[in-house]
Amino acid sequence: MGCCCDDCGYWWDEWKYCLACIGIFILVVLFAVLLAAYAVVRHIDVEVEDASLTRFDLVTSPVTAFAYNLTLTLTIRNPNWAMSLKNTKPLEAAYKFDGQQFDRVGLAEKGDKHKPGKTRVYHLVRNSNSSFVVLGNAGETEYRKEKPTGVFEVEVAVTGEVRYTARYTKCKIEASCPLKLQLAPPGTEAVVFQKVKCKLAKPEKNC
Ligand SMILES: *[C@@H]1O[C@H](CO)[C@@H](O)[C@H](O)[C@H]1NC(C)=O
Ligand SMILES: *[C@@H]1O[C@H](CO)[C@@H](O)[C@H](O)[C@H]1NC(C)=O
Repeated sequence: MGCCCDDCGYWWDEWKYCLACIGIFILVVLFAVLLAAYAVVRHIDVEVEDASLTRFDLVTSPVTAFAYNLTLTLTIRNPNWAMSLKNTKPLEAAYKFDGQQFDRVGLAEKGDKHKPGKTRVYHLVRNSNSSFVVLGNAGETEYRKEKPTGVFEVEVAVTGEVRYTARYTKCKIEASCPLKLQLAPPGTEAVVFQKVKCKLAKPEKNC
């Protein structure tokens, strides 16, 4: 009997270190997984997949405005595998010519959630007969310069503010997508659009 207990005690002495080792290993792995999931924020990817401009006229009376038809396919991807994004401000896309905004469209409401790993596709169709714009003399000159080429430089600027799951700080979203749009009125040959990857502004601290 004494022999058996001795054996048991010996067995247990050996194993308790082993179990402690395994326990520590599991904790370390768990910690690494949590760290990978929540400590490092991966920033969103914004892209303009497709764009088609069928009209882009400058109207000068009664006010300066663009009469334009523009269709865009914009995608936003959340590359994080564990963290959702929650919009703490509305997500919007502004259209600009020569740095001047002439339109603004809403993409997502405040409070809207974007799940991890998901890509959202926004199909934006704008047909406007008069979108007010302050171009000034320089802007009008730029328009007249681009018009004969049939290619207009339009910027799509995506702005918003989000919070990532398990994080306290709110992070601004600022992406700029410079587009060169070939004007193709209905009836003309379709234009192939080269996908544009939008440039994100440098993130703030803790974002
Ligand atoms: C632009 O859109 C308007 C309104 O939908 C339409 O009447 C017009 O034909 C379109 N023009 C062009 C050039 O696509
Ligand atoms: C723009 O004007 C055209 C004709 O002038 C009209 O057919 C069209 O519906 C208007 N589009 C919008 C969006 O107001």
